[in-house]
Parts: sequence; structure tokens; C-alpha cells
Amino acid sequence: MAQQSVHIFVKLLFGILLQVAASQSSTINDTHFIAGVVEFRPDVTGLTTAQLIANHTDAYIQILQSAEALDTDIVVFPESSLNNEFKPTYVPAPEDRIIPCLLTSETSKYEYFLIKLSCAARMNRKYVVINLTEQENCTANAAFDPRPCAANALNIYNTNVVFDRRGSVISRYRKVNIYVERRNTTFEPEFAIFDTDFGVRFGHFICFDLNFYTPTEELVVKYGIRNIIFTSMWKSELPFLTAHQLQQSWAWGNNVTVISAGGSRPESGATGSGIYVGDNGALTAAIIGGMGVRQLFVAKVPKFDQGIAVPSPIKRQFANLTSTPQTGISLLRDPKLDNFKSQLLQLNSSSPISMQQCYEKICCTISIETTPSQRIYGNNSGAAPGAYQYRFGVFRALRSYEKEQYSDVAICGIYACTNMSVASCGLLHPANTAVAPGFAFKHLNIMGNFEKATRLLLMPNSLDLNFYSLQPEQVEWKVIDAGKSHSVSIDLKAPADNLLTFGIYANYYDGSGSSNVIGSLMLWLTCLSLWPGICIVRV
Ligand SMILES: *[C@@H]1O[C@H](CO)[C@@H](O)[C@H](O)[C@H]1NC(C)=O
Ligand SMILES: *[C@@H]1O[C@H](CO)[C@@H](O)[C@H](O)[C@H]1NC(C)=O
Ligand SMILES: *[C@@H]1O[C@H](CO)[C@@H](O)[C@H](O)[C@H]1NC(C)=O
Repeated sequence: MAQQSVHIFVKLLFGILLQVAASQSSTINDTHFIAGVVEFRPDVTGLTTAQLIANHTDAYIQILQSAEALDTDIVVFPESSLNNEFKPTYVPAPEDRIIPCLLTSETSKYEYFLIKLSCAARMNRKYVVINLTEQENCTANAAFDPRPCAANALNIYNTNVVFDRRGSVISRYRKVNIYVERRNTTFEPEFAIFDTDFGVRFGHFICFDLNFYTPTEELVVKYGIRNIIFTSMWKSELPFLTAHQLQQSWAWGNNVTVISAGGSRPESGATGSGIYVGDNGALTAAIIGGMGVRQLFVAKVPKFDQGIAVPSPIKRQFANLTSTPQTGISLLRDPKLDNFKSQLLQLNSSSPISMQQCYEKICCTISIETTPSQRIYGNNSGAAPGAYQYRFGVFRALRSYEKEQYSDVAICGIYACTNMSVASCGLLHPANTAVAPGFAFKHLNIMGNFEKATRLLLMPNSLDLNFYSLQPEQVEWKVIDAGKSHSVSIDLKAPADNLLTFGIYANYYDGSGSSNVIGSLMLWLTCLSLWPGICIVRV
């Protein structure tokens, strides 16, 4: 009895403390806000759908109530880690300003987990972003969508939901660029934008969207959004598109803040969360192998987009939970890597190297100086340590992803290979092999001219052996207007002996914004016959 009342007292006290502390939310007058991203491992096996959702909902709430979350203004959870298609929920339209927490699941059409999470946002006074499987009554929508309804009259969407501090649904985004998943799309793409009481306007989108112009890049260039929330279950691909690498590249290339929460399933290639402030790099980042985690990463995010200076030096926090992060992370490989025009770099000599490499009309130059290095990375399990070879490659063409959806990309860069063959590029030495590089890049510069286009994102791209990108202290990135093209250069500022990738990655998206690319006209015509921005080509 006594024990119980002490318990209740402690709970009450804790509740009061929580309220007091939580009242120190950031405001429009602050120079920063505090954001949290959750790297979250979903349960996948051995549970019923109901148990699974209950488990995820409880874990979400626990994170929101945790001491680490106390100061956060906004917490972002990743894709595909709450419910599933067997238990979709209705989601209120943001314009209705509904607070699910004030309803019960008996009297409302919303599932209990949506209600509980609305209550958690309300109790903890935070903005909360979640991703879930949403259902919508198809017939209600028929006036705006001429496509045939499914037999059960439901549309099923992959949806981000944003609660404000009162638990009200203030934003909803239905994924446009559907990956390998059975989901509906909205007839017109949605641009999801919301404002906060701390004076920051956010746009948000989901995972695979990151590779596309609509709605992703359009939020930045057309709607002027400078703060992006990104939920994902990203399958990392070597050498250019591992999760953290692309998140940082995208934030840097656009010079915007990106708050990114990643699903944690290393065995299927998914991990990668972080908070990035444009060309200031990452405040926090996590790439985690092994079994994955359920962990919150918090950063004080300067409102640099509002002209507020970023405190220097920047405090960066990188998760380092496994000694060899690639352990257990299953990786994709760029399907076009064998088609790059590439040369093996002969880096064993100490004399400087420079060369040019072209792919049709795009040419890039590289200049390199190396210096010996004695370092060894990882644990040697008796076998001789490995070393990486590097190729300098250039590419300009369409690439596909795991489905037939294409991006027109231009790439100039070096990438690691496990031996001298092209086929070994984009692969890693086994996780139990130590890496003894033998040399470090002392000087490394890659330059190229990239034709201008109305749809183009130029990004610095780098990756080290820990699967993290190099930060602005280590990299100089320059884009200069050169008339019909951009003159782009990426420079290493400090010696590095642990590179996997270093270069320039340009996304011309569906190619429709560029002037004279072989194949782009065909792609453009095909895209025109579909609805705007969504470009699915069958070749
Ligand atoms: C912000 O500062 C202005 C001017 O000093 C003040 O009037 C306003 O109440 C402040 N707002 C908040 C939310 O602190
Ligand atoms: C959202 O979560 C649902 C349910 O887990 C999943 O099926 C869907 O792919 C996710 N979508 C996004 C965009 O996160
Ligand atoms: C939604 O998806 C289902 C199943 O794939 C399909 O039958 C239905 O036509 C789609 N609805 C719309 C409006 O596209």
C-alpha cells in the first residue's frame, strides 16, 4: 500500500517536474529550436498485428516521455515503424484541426494508436511527426480523382502525420513516390507544409521521394521551404547513396536544414538518421549496424536560414555504436556503376596525379597527392588486412532504382573497389577484415562543368569507412556560375586515409529541365503523358 502511494507520489512529482521543464519550449524569439530524431527498430516477427502496434505505440510514448526528449520542441519518428496495412487508420484532414486525444476510439473512427500518440504529443507539449498506413474512403474523393476505386472502396496511403503541442493534427502528407510497396498515390501530388510556434516553417516528405523533383525539390525551389523533415526506411546503396551520405549531400546542396529519422533494420539495409544544417554539415548523425536500435538523437538547431549565425566550432555528435558499422548492413550497389567511364588510380607513387575523364559531353578533372599512412581500421581476425583500390569515374545518363523509376544523374568521383576490377567497385571488404590503407589523400580535387537546367540539384558527396560523410571542416565545395554551365569543384581540406567515396553528384531528376541530353526528349514525352512530376518509364 505504502509502496504504491510512494509510487503515485513519485509519478505525480515527475509529472509536475515534466510540466515545468517542458514549459521551456523554444519560441519565435530564440536563435534555435531543439529537434529529436528517432532511429527506430520495428518489431517484425513473432507478434500479431495488434501486439506489434501496441509494442510500437508504447515504445514511441516511452521515447516522448524520456529524459532525453525533455527539451525537444519537435520529435520525428521514421517510416514504417508504427502500424501496417492490416490495421490502417483514418487520419483527420489538417484543416479540420481535430485533436484525436479528445476523442475515444469507440466514438471516433480513428484507431487507438493515433489517439494515444495525439495524447502523448499533448501531454509532453511537443510537435510529433509519425508515419503510418492511412486509409481513406475512396468514394468520398471521387469528384477529384477519376481513377477507379479499389473493390473495398479504400485508398491506402503511406502517410506522415504531424501533431502540434496540443495533439492536433496540423499536417498530413501522402507519399508521392511509391517504392516497392502496395500503396495508393494521391491524384495530384501533395506539398505538405506547416508552421510552428517557434517560428520555423517545415515541409515534409518520405524516403524514396528524396530522389525526385516532385514534391521534394519543389518544396525548396518553388515554396521556399528551408526546413525539411524526412522520414525514411532507406536502403543504402554504394558508392553514392547510403543514407546519411545522401541526407547530408541533399541538405548541403540545397543549403537547408534537414531533420531525418530512419527506420533501423540493418539486416535489410535500413539505418540512417541525422540533423543537418545546410552547408554547415551534420549536428548529429547515426548509422548503426548489428541489431539496430530504438534511440533518440537530439540537437540544438540554429535557425541559420533566418540569418542567425551558427555557433562555431560546431558541436557534432555521431553515433558510434559498432566498431565496424557495415557489420550486418545489407547494401545495394549502384546498378550503373559498371557503365561509368572510369580509370583505376595508381596511388602507390608519391608523385602527384592529374587526369581528365569524360562521359559523352561531361568531362571532369581530378588532381591527387598522397602521403603514406600507417593506420589500421577495424579488427583483424587473423587474416591479412585489406586495402581499397580507387577508380575515378564519370557518368551521365538515366539510372533506375529497385523499380523502373528513373533519375537523370551526372556524377564525377572516386570510389573504392576491393580489387582492380570494375566489378569490385561499390563492394566492401568482409566485416571481419581490417583495412590498412597504406596511404592518405593529402590533396584531392575534382572539378567539372555541369550544364545548367531548370531542374538540377548539385551535391557534394563523400563517404568514409564508418559510413559517415566528411564535414565542412574537411571539405570545400564551390559552385560558380560559368554562363551555360556551373563550374563545380570539391576539395579535400585535411588529409584522409579512410575514404570510400568523394565527388560531385548532380541530379537532373526526370531530365525535362535540361537542354540537350541524349534520351531526355524521349523521357520527357513519356513523362508528359503521365501526371505532373511523376515519371515512370517502361523501357
Ligand atoms: C518575442 O519578443 C517580442 C519583442 O520583445 C515580445 O513582444 C514577444 O512577446 C516575444 N514572444 C515570445 C513568444 O516570447
Ligand atoms: C509508413 O508506415 C507504414 C506502416 O508501417 C508503411 O507501410 C509505409 O511504408 C510507411 N510510409 C512512409 C512513407 O513512411
Ligand atoms: C488504389 O490501389 C488499389 C490496389 O492496388 C487499386 O485497385 C485502386 O485502383 C487504387 N485506387 C486509385 C484511386 O488509384
